[in-house]
Order: sequence, then C-alpha cells, then structure tokens
Amino acid sequence: MLKRETIGRAIPVIIVMILFLIAGCVSSPPVTEGEALYKEKCSRCHELRSPLRHTASEWPATVDRMQSKDPVWISDKEKEKILKYLQANARK
Ligand code: HEC
Repeated sequence: MLKRETIGRAIPVIIVMILFLIAGCVSSPPVTEGEALYKEKCSRCHELRSPLRHTASEWPATVDRMQSKDPVWISDKEKEKILKYLQANARK
C-alpha cells in the first residue's frame, strides 16, 4: 500500500505533467486550422488548387466566388481562415 503522504506529493507532479502534455498539443499543432480547412473544404468540387495559383491580392475574389457556390459548405468564418492560409502561402 502506498502511504497517503506519497500519494499527496505525487498529485501536484502529475497535474504539472498533464498540463505540459496539454500545452504541447495546443502550442504546436502539426497543421494550422486554416490549412486543415483549406484541405477539407477546397477539395470537394475539384482537386486542391495550390495557394501559389494566385497572389495574396487575387485570392479574396476567388475565395469569395468559391464560397458563393456553396455558402453552407464554407461558412464566413471558415472562409476567413482559409483566405489567411492562402494569402500567407500565395505566389509572390
Ligand atoms: C461548391 C464547389 C466548389 C468548392 C467548395 C470550391 N470550388 Fe473552386 N471551383 C469550383 C468551380 C465550379 C470552378 C470553375 C468555375 C470558376 O472558376 O468559378 C472552380 C475553380 C477554382 C479555381 C480556378 C479559377 C481561379 O479563379 O483561379 C481555383 C483556384 C479554385 N476553384 C480554388 C478553390 C478554393 C481555394 C476553394 C476553397 C475555399 C474552392 N475552390 C472550393 C467549385 C468549387
């Protein structure tokens, strides 16, 4: 049997370890939300088009047009996140 004291001292350590685990997952996601949405939302009607296809100033018009084809599939919030991702990786 473990002594009460031993368990009492282990609990804060365990809590700190769990917090570190959670922080690790939250602070360094493998892909950004925008990229994940882009891959999911923009590959339904056609092959994924590369962000390099347009410049950052051209993308808004294209993404607006894509959203208007199916506004239920791509919400305004999702559009904004996708647009940010595309502009960050757009043709220079
Ligand atoms: C509802 C179906 C649909 C969805 C969802 C969709 N597209 Fe399209 N896309 C089309 C169709 C149809 C065309 C061809 C006609 C046109 O250009 O409007 C097209 C054409 C394009 C083109 C080529 C024309 C151009 O302006 O360069 C690009 C790039 C593009 N889509 C990117 C995207 C991106 C990025 C997304 C995600 C935000 C997306 N599409 C989501 C249907 C869709």
